[in-house]
Amino acid sequence: MVNVRDFEGAAKAVLDPVYYDYFASGAQDEVTVRANEEAFRRLALVPRVLRGHKPPRLGHTVLGSQASMPIMVSPTAFHRLAHPEGERASARAAAEAGVIMIAAMLATVAVEDMAAEARKVADDPALWFQLYLQPDLGFTEALVRRAEAAGCAALVVTVDSPALGRNERGDRNGFHDLPPGIRCENLREAGGDVRSVVLSPEISWRHIDWLRGVTALPIVLKGVLHPADAALALRHGVDAILVSNHGGRQLDGTPAAVDRLPVLADAVGGEIPLLLDGGIRRGTDVVKALALGASAAAIGRPVLWGLAADGEQGVSRVLGLLRTELLNALTLCGCDSAESVPRDLVVRGAM
Ligand code: FNR
Repeated sequence: MVNVRDFEGAAKAVLDPVYYDYFASGAQDEVTVRANEEAFRRLALVPRVLRGHKPPRLGHTVLGSQASMPIMVSPTAFHRLAHPEGERASARAAAEAGVIMIAAMLATVAVEDMAAEARKVADDPALWFQLYLQPDLGFTEALVRRAEAAGCAALVVTVDSPALGRNERGDRNGFHDLPPGIRCENLREAGGDVRSVVLSPEISWRHIDWLRGVTALPIVLKGVLHPADAALALRHGVDAILVSNHGGRQLDGTPAAVDRLPVLADAVGGEIPLLLDGGIRRGTDVVKALALGASAAAIGRPVLWGLAADGEQGVSRVLGLLRTELLNALTLCGCDSAESVPRDLVVRGAM
């Protein structure tokens, strides 16, 4: 297996087809799932030559978390459907690689246990926590306290989910519940059942203000696509935006995430960092995201493919392959660091 695509093939070969569909699928016609990857193909790289640089530096810092490269792990639910060790294995692999991992609220391993696993392999692992704000603020606050106590360094609030997206592969497969023995360990108090999570259209900026008041952790909004919302995020004291369409799993028909970067970069005017996920499968995709204004790019499904194919080793291999590809791509582009990728490296529609 020499690239992320190979890992998807390997994962598909070993996974229960119902779980493979859960990981791979998106909402309805999956137009946005495909758009995320296709958008990168429509962006071309125009390298600079004869720069005389040393090999590029990959290290970077986001919201105070240091990482060995600008590739992060996006939150994805239910890792134990991919591998018996689930998030224990992914947390160790991410910490070992020195990348920021965003633990999912719907993880099948508790955030405390993920943090403990990460600390087995790194002194100061960078773990963030993803949150679906619950109308029950007491419950939400209890989760925030658990994330804080576990050492999470930022809260990632997913804001593209006022309802669950319509997943037709899941409907066809009748996949609506976790199998016996696997549950959402962060929701223990609520029974650990996925159905205890409330996705409510009544969540609003008021809740972000409330969250700002109950925690000192940096707050990242995940799932912003409209520049007016980016401007509101600034007004409400948000610390970063993760530009994302949820990997095409929520509203089908949203634009490719990477295509929203330029307009969102204009909207925030460098005041807060932008992160990006959706369709990152190559080191060159990361370079394109960095050129268009992202401070880092994050991966969702590739981690699941690595995990399903070979547990912790598989996730390590996926992160290692992307690191090698990113280093190679930056070198070939004539860049000396991941933090200084110029905008004019990318042109549209020139392939
Ligand atoms: C997700 N994603 C997600 N996001 C989130 O905020 N909370 C969650 O619980 C989940 N769960 C989840 C499960 C699965 C199986 C997938 C594939 C995705 C979305 C995720 O964080 C990210 O936005 C996308 O996965 C990025 O796209 P790629 O890298 O998968 O193309």
